[in-house]
Amino acid sequence: MDLWDGDFWDVHRDLPREGVGSDATTRRLLELAGPLPDDARALDLGCGPGRSALVLAAAGMRVTGVDLHLPFLVRLREAASARGLAGSVSVERASMAALPHPDGCVDAVWSEGAAYAMGVDAALVAWRRLLRPGGVLVFTDVGWATATPSAAAWQFWAAYPAMRTASATVEACRAAGYDVVATLEQPESDWWDEYYDPLGERLDALERAHPDAADRLAPYRAEITLRREHGADYAYTAFVLRRP
Ligand SMILES: C[S@@+](CC[C@H](N)C(=O)[O-])C[C@H]1O[C@@H](n2cnc3c(N)ncnc32)[C@H](O)[C@@H]1O
Repeated sequence: MDLWDGDFWDVHRDLPREGVGSDATTRRLLELAGPLPDDARALDLGCGPGRSALVLAAAGMRVTGVDLHLPFLVRLREAASARGLAGSVSVERASMAALPHPDGCVDAVWSEGAAYAMGVDAALVAWRRLLRPGGVLVFTDVGWATATPSAAAWQFWAAYPAMRTASATVEACRAAGYDVVATLEQPESDWWDEYYDPLGERLDALERAHPDAADRLAPYRAEITLRREHGADYAYTAFVLRRP
């Protein structure tokens, strides 16, 4: 039998995105962020394969995608070249929690589905100094959509103990010194079309190739099933903030 070693990256390699989102949502968030200077500079922190960075670059921004996982950065660079955006997209392997960039260096800090990795509250503090006054921070995060989540959702999200409601995050954003320009609950299609649907197909393909892998693939399948059965308990929300 063709054994599978359970490598996380066998599951995630070359998926369209590494989290909940869509190009349409990124574009909408750009509109909500309001006019930015021509040739605005942006950092996309935890950029993954870089879909948001590509949308920002296509809108005329000069974007640096930052991630710890080198293959994502290679993919982003290739995708930028293929779209004629190589001059607008650079990549940097660095931790979003310890960025070497000078204060006020960008007009926008962008981070879709990644701030949780260092903690949203820590990110709000650490990233503010990177923005010039008037610059925008746009990030997305998962939060509770009900005060009475199902036991299944509660158990799954115990792995993210800092999870809270979107309104509690709005308060945290204000407390960290931002103006809250807008919030946007992401549509259900952002969970499926480019994230859970391709992930489910990948799991099926892996299981066909490695029938022994079913047990190790089960946690990934459980996450997808949880969304289908208890999706009303939690939501992904985008926060559009301005540094005064
Ligand atoms: C859930 S994925 C989201 C990726 C991408 N923004 C998207 O929406 O497809 C989180 C990303 O954060 C990256 N990451 C995690 N910790 C990081 C850190 N300390 N510094 C930089 N990137 C990090 C991971 O490698 C991964 O690409």
